[in-house]
Amino acid sequence: MRLTVLSTLFLATTSLSAGAAFAAGDLNVICAADVVICEQMKSDFEKDHDIKVNMVRMSSGEAYAKIRAEARNPKTDLWWAGTGDPHLQAASEGLTAEYQSPMLDQLQDWAKSQAESSGFKTVGVYAGALGWGYNTDIFKQKGYKEPVCWADLLAPELKGEIQIANPNSSGTAYTALASLVQIMGEEKAFEYLKALNANISQYTKSGSAPVKAAARGETGLGIVFMHDAVAQTAEGFPVKSIAPCEGTGYEIGSMSIVKGARNMDNAKTWYDWSLKPQVQSRMKDAKSFQLPSNKTAEIPKEAPRFEDIKLIDYDFKTYGDPEKRKALLERWDREVGAVAN
Ligand code: G6P
Repeated sequence: MRLTVLSTLFLATTSLSAGAAFAAGDLNVICAADVVICEQMKSDFEKDHDIKVNMVRMSSGEAYAKIRAEARNPKTDLWWAGTGDPHLQAASEGLTAEYQSPMLDQLQDWAKSQAESSGFKTVGVYAGALGWGYNTDIFKQKGYKEPVCWADLLAPELKGEIQIANPNSSGTAYTALASLVQIMGEEKAFEYLKALNANISQYTKSGSAPVKAAARGETGLGIVFMHDAVAQTAEGFPVKSIAPCEGTGYEIGSMSIVKGARNMDNAKTWYDWSLKPQVQSRMKDAKSFQLPSNKTAEIPKEAPRFEDIKLIDYDFKTYGDPEKRKALLERWDREVGAVAN
């Protein structure tokens, strides 16, 4: 009898502590990259750790909005990937936590400076340049001229042939908006975007959707990060990627820990792990062809190289500033979104 009581007690204690360990073994992640790399990261992390990852996939602007909405009662612990501007905005609004990873010294300067300029509330995980991908079969069949400059996208023959995402939800499209403002000046950039609107068939929610549509022949061209266009070519679709002749902007895909995260230790574990060279070198297996932030990670042979692209000196501080981002998005809503087809 005594034995039974004791063993029941023992069982109760062990299952309780197992329950506690299980609860401590959760990590709630928003992943703002493509679903295939999100799934790969989750399963690789779970293989290496005794932590269960609950992951949701969102576009960058949506991820920012969710973290902002949850600020008083955070449900998300960590926000991995997506363009850096909304991560910087969250950092300056105090929504994300300061963390200096021991991995920082292994990172490229652009990734470290993303961390330094935010007071270590975010960090660069990858980089990639903006451009577009077009369907070579469609362009050939319809006799369109190869579009190599931003100016070429205004050709009247391209009416209804172009897609880009909505910059409110998509970091890709916000990078396009901010890049054009930096290349042309704000007034000219909005004139350009209003003229371009005549050729846009759809403003998608996710940044890479336009080139996926172009790959499948649903549209002629998608304005996206060049590595997303290259991923479609690697899948065997007739897509050619272009670096615009006037110059272009780029993203520093970033990662942030949510302030007040319930699983703070696990968030730091993911943070350090995802900056490791062997983890970043695996990204190409999910056809995620960005430039990795760890200096010793393998650069995929498919990755568009910055030295081959006319890059602007993208001002991350200004365009990741809450006031600036809000003002540009409001102007886009008024002048472009409101008149969109
Ligand atoms: C794709 C790209 C990433 C980028 C992300 C932004 O997944 O491969 O490099 O960070 O788009 O997504 P969004 O939907 O916010 O434009």
